[in-house]
Amino acid sequence: MSTPTIVIAGAGQAGSRTAASLRELGFEGRVVLVGDEPHLPYQRPPLSKGHLTGAAARDNLWLHPWTFYDHHEIELRLSKRVNRIDRPNNRVELAGGEILDYDHLVLALGARNRTLPLDGNELDGVVGLRNLAEADDIRERLARARRLVVVGGGFIGLEVAATAVKLGLDAVVVEIADQLMGRVLSAQMAGFVLDAHRARGLRVELGTSVTGLTGTAGRVSAVTTTDGREFPADMVLVGIGAAPNTNLAEDAGLRVDNGIVVDEYLATDDAQISAVGDCTSCPNRFAGGTRVRLESVHNATAQPRALAARLVGRPELYDSVPWFWSDQGDLKLQIAGLGVQSSHAVLRGDVDSGRFSVFCFHDGVLRSVESLNRPGDHMAARKLLALGNCLTPEQARDPDFDLRAHIAAHSIGDPVVPAHRATSPRAAG
Ligand code: NAI
Repeated sequence: MSTPTIVIAGAGQAGSRTAASLRELGFEGRVVLVGDEPHLPYQRPPLSKGHLTGAAARDNLWLHPWTFYDHHEIELRLSKRVNRIDRPNNRVELAGGEILDYDHLVLALGARNRTLPLDGNELDGVVGLRNLAEADDIRERLARARRLVVVGGGFIGLEVAATAVKLGLDAVVVEIADQLMGRVLSAQMAGFVLDAHRARGLRVELGTSVTGLTGTAGRVSAVTTTDGREFPADMVLVGIGAAPNTNLAEDAGLRVDNGIVVDEYLATDDAQISAVGDCTSCPNRFAGGTRVRLESVHNATAQPRALAARLVGRPELYDSVPWFWSDQGDLKLQIAGLGVQSSHAVLRGDVDSGRFSVFCFHDGVLRSVESLNRPGDHMAARKLLALGNCLTPEQARDPDFDLRAHIAAHSIGDPVVPAHRATSPRAAG
């Protein structure tokens, strides 16, 4: 029997991690990693942070050097797009006509930025940030711009706006919701983040959106908002969220519901196709067992590891505490768990010192912990959430309550490994 071929469509963090994990776990078949960008697979987090100021060296962006792919016999097909999945014949068609046969196909297609449904999107100076080419362009523009309007007070908007303020630009964030980062943050933490940004010179307009982008000689010159105001701008960054890349899967008849539908083993309904990363909708016990689509580096590394384990015949349930981080100037925000719908927020630490955490509970159960400049709380939170329901709001609030000792006491018998860990029938090929 010939060695099986695993084709990975998408060479971002999740695709590259899948290839690397397969080799780490001893997969000996052929691995082909197909990506439509010209670069080696790279890290995205620095793009909206140090890359914009030059603090992060370009060479540090690559997830692995060229030699890594050679050494591990991972065939890289860069600047190539997968155009079609031919499920009956187990093959994919690349732009340009190349055909790749697979025994197993991994979809690691990522997400794309949403754009404003407005005329003026095409004006010079209206930009979005997802890939390296866009980050390079934004870096150059920030060096020349004087007035920046950021549409969307989420991860991208606030990280770039904080950098712009540091660089001396006059920056305004226009956010449609009544709080910043509403997708991931409690109102308490969002309120603090708002005050902190304003204190550092960033203007933030909540509860308003953009109705028009005005230009002069093809270049953006102003943004008008729903409340009738006009903000002059020589640069507009649009960071209003992302949508999963699901067209390939949909065209191939796979189930899609805010992401490619997979089970806890990252398997689609087709036994020979799996999916990982931002493009997946996966059941998650930290969301009460419901399906969620996570956009995070953690998800893009943990899902591939679990998938690779299944593909080498050692199935592992994807059951990892979700976590996120965001560096916004000197604000180091870390989030463990999924707690947006929490009903009870408990403060730990000192808000005035700018080092504190918000522990979010729902029905008395800890759902998430948001930490600002308190990495110790964040690490403890990841362990507490993995352990399950073992912390009360009173304990969280008590500054003298020792979280590390509490975790140690509850960890006896390795409860981090869920009792329902099961085996999956679906291995590679
Ligand atoms: P996001 O979902 O974090 O934030 C989008 C924001 O835009 C939300 O606050 C939303 O209410 C607002 N919004 C939506 N429509 C609007 C409108 N018409 N006018 C004004 N505001 C509007 O998405 P974001 O920041 O665009 O990031 C996109 C992707 O990049 C996500 O996958 C994110 O996770 C990722 N990313 C993650 C980072 C991190 O983890 N530190 C850093 C940068 C990006």
